[in-house]
Amino acid sequence: MIVCRSRAEVQKMRRANGLVADVLRELEALIEPGVTPADLDAVAEARVRAAGAVPAFKGYHGYPATLCVSINEAVVHGIPSARRLAEGDIVSLDMGVVLDGYYGDSALTVGVGAISEAAAGLLRVTREALDRAIERARVGGRVSDLGHAVQSHVEAHGFSVVREFVGHGIGTSLHEEPQVPNYGEPGRGPRLKEGMVLAIEPMVNAGLPAVRVLDDGWTAVTSDGSLSAHFEHSVAVLQEGPCVLSRPTPADPAALSQAG
Ligand code: CO
Repeated sequence: MIVCRSRAEVQKMRRANGLVADVLRELEALIEPGVTPADLDAVAEARVRAAGAVPAFKGYHGYPATLCVSINEAVVHGIPSARRLAEGDIVSLDMGVVLDGYYGDSALTVGVGAISEAAAGLLRVTREALDRAIERARVGGRVSDLGHAVQSHVEAHGFSVVREFVGHGIGTSLHEEPQVPNYGEPGRGPRLKEGMVLAIEPMVNAGLPAVRVLDDGWTAVTSDGSLSAHFEHSVAVLQEGPCVLSRPTPADPAALSQAG
């Protein structure tokens, strides 16, 4: 069953997702050569708890951390380690929280210092693919319209879409119906209705789409060792159009209405 949220619930999810976005923005500013994923995880957990929220991933099916930090050929679910980030790495930061009973979930991929043109192109195309999927999160559309938008943009640039992991509904659980694949024909699957909230999360490989999971039981890496990027937003389907909930809180409250 796909739950449609009331305006009051969407407002609570805006707060949970705003916290995720604010913390991710703070972490992004800390990224430089020499920093460790474990350092970032400690900052993330402290910020989340100080805001009265609880990390959503920690303890989820035994996952041990607040953040997923996935470096270079790691696609998703990298466990934060003491390995130092190096100039030229690309790093996906993924975080979920529960605040006042509602979940937030968002991810972004950033470069460490100067990165190659190939890596920068991968980040740009993945971000654009997410933007195109968000644009399709409209009342009357279908779930598969989102995946089709991602796949067509990604493949037009010679990159590939990961099939093994998908986006998801989100609300009072981290993972709710429907699944939101990043590939497929348009016009299939459930119809999008007012109040649905979807975590849309394209994972894009520079090489082949295949992935495998490392012996730690979590870290998914590209089978061919190529770079991978991941961006995620939690988005409410509203009558007036898609509303991205996981945007940082504007410093100026008057800017809220423009922030979407
Ligand atoms: Co997610």
